[in-house]
Amino acid sequence: MLIRVIYLSKAVVPQTAETAQALLRKAQANNQANGITGVLCQGQGVYLQALEGERKAVTDLYARIYADPRHTNVEMLHCESIAQRRYENWSMAHVSLSDLDPETKIDWPEFDPYSVTGLLVMARIDDLLASGTAIEGSA
Ligand SMILES: Cc1cc2nc3c(=O)[nH]c(=O)nc-3n(C[C@H](O)[C@H](O)[C@H](O)COP(=O)(O)O)c2cc1C
Repeated sequence: MLIRVIYLSKAVVPQTAETAQALLRKAQANNQANGITGVLCQGQGVYLQALEGERKAVTDLYARIYADPRHTNVEMLHCESIAQRRYENWSMAHVSLSDLDPETKIDWPEFDPYSVTGLLVMARIDDLLASGTAIEGSA
């Protein structure tokens, strides 16, 4: 049984290119081994991540991520059973929120992920992926 989880958190350590890359590399290697796919948006002091895969694998990973001291204020925005993956092409796609082009920002002035529903956040993640901003990490 497949599920998808979306959560949001606040970075504890500065999100430099190095810390971002280290996290992404580890995530991609682990996720490929564990059948996890998804998207990690990071920057502007927040992490926003969609994780999908077998229910047990996603639950275990979420528990590990939740306890990770590199971030805090972890809030689950969304959890659902899914028939098919949305991000099947990515072991962990990456969107840099700090690198958003000005048009995306203008398009998105009111966005506060802590105050909107998970479904809206997922739509925004899909917008970001479609806009092709800083995507890496094929499955
Ligand atoms: C914002 C954030 C996102 C993360 N995403 C993933 C992920 O997608 N996959 C993963 O395996 N670890 C991820 N991690 C790292 C885990 O918290 C944990 O450090 C890692 O899974 C441990 O792997 P190891 O047992 O191989 O050392 C993330 C951590 C943070 C802070």
